[in-house]
Amino acid sequence: MTSDDHHIQHAAKIIADWWVVAFPTETVYWLGANIHNADAVRRIFEIKGRASDNPLIVHIHDIAQLKEVAVDVPDYAYDLAQQFWPWPLALVLHKSDRIIDAVSAGQPTVAVRMPDHDIALSLIRQAGVPIAAPSANLSGKPSPTTASHVAHDIGDRVDAILDGWATQVGIESTVIDLTISPPVILRPWSITAEDISTIIPLQHYNPWTTDTPKSPGMKYRHYAPDTQMVLIDHKHDDVTSMIQYYHQQWQRVGVITTLETQDHYPDADHLWVLGSRKNLSSISHHLFATLRQVDAAWCDIILCESFERVGVGVALMDRLTKACEGKKG
Ligand code: TXA
Ligand code: MG
Repeated sequence: MTSDDHHIQHAAKIIADWWVVAFPTETVYWLGANIHNADAVRRIFEIKGRASDNPLIVHIHDIAQLKEVAVDVPDYAYDLAQQFWPWPLALVLHKSDRIIDAVSAGQPTVAVRMPDHDIALSLIRQAGVPIAAPSANLSGKPSPTTASHVAHDIGDRVDAILDGWATQVGIESTVIDLTISPPVILRPWSITAEDISTIIPLQHYNPWTTDTPKSPGMKYRHYAPDTQMVLIDHKHDDVTSMIQYYHQQWQRVGVITTLETQDHYPDADHLWVLGSRKNLSSISHHLFATLRQVDAAWCDIILCESFERVGVGVALMDRLTKACEGKKG
């Protein structure tokens, strides 16, 4: 059942009353709390098992609310907001003194965004306060794209879950730091460096290669299934020889593939097809749900095809690289 106005009103009251609610957005399901209540915000960190140095994004329903949460907001922040919001673009700005440390994890800055989803916008409007929220999954696991993913991970620990069907986008927002000049993209997504450069020049920064990420969340293991997963950086021929290699060791091998390449792996023990390489947004949309399914196939190893780091491919490769990091041996 999807949520109607009555459910949203009830959930808004739960947030205003200082409890936590999971709800759908255009990207993934979030776990939200009133930005002014440290206890509710701390509960989010406890429920998820989130590292306390990883700040939460603050969500607003109207550009006018920027003044409530940030100070010294440059004109180009308003230009970006006007151009892209509501949409998955989080702007990192100098925080106002209304942003408590529990939200900003001790940073002098705050990341703000406006979601493009009727339920999320209505919830923020009716709660009457900006909502601090991360994705509504256990830290380290793939972000939830359906209410049942949320129920599976943390359903027994949240005060309410609003159901809004599967999310449209499926991976999280682009995060851009506007507190430095020129600004930098800290976490890539569909709003690409090329899109943003039409409004402001950007600094080149590679979030994967730096030792000290400017966005604390980039250093943590993310999105990972329990089964060991390997990202194959080359063409399908390498996947085929790796299947043979693992089969010689009596291991069950799964492959995460695409419509165009799925026929190359007749020997794989399990295949998951993410979609067509001609539509990377659709592939992103299916990614987290697929990562949640792979453990059920009882493979010893999952081989995952890679994508060119261009446009949405940059964000897709970011999520896949994270999903393959720090695996059990
Ligand atoms: O769609 C999305 O982007 C969802 C919703 C909640 O907006 N975001 C999401 O958030 O899934 P989460 O908590 O998984 O990731 C937020 C990222 C983290 O990498 C965090 O470190 C970074 O944003 N972040 C938050 N506040 C920041 C700040 N003040 N400075 C730099 N990075 C920040
Ligand atoms: Mg997350």
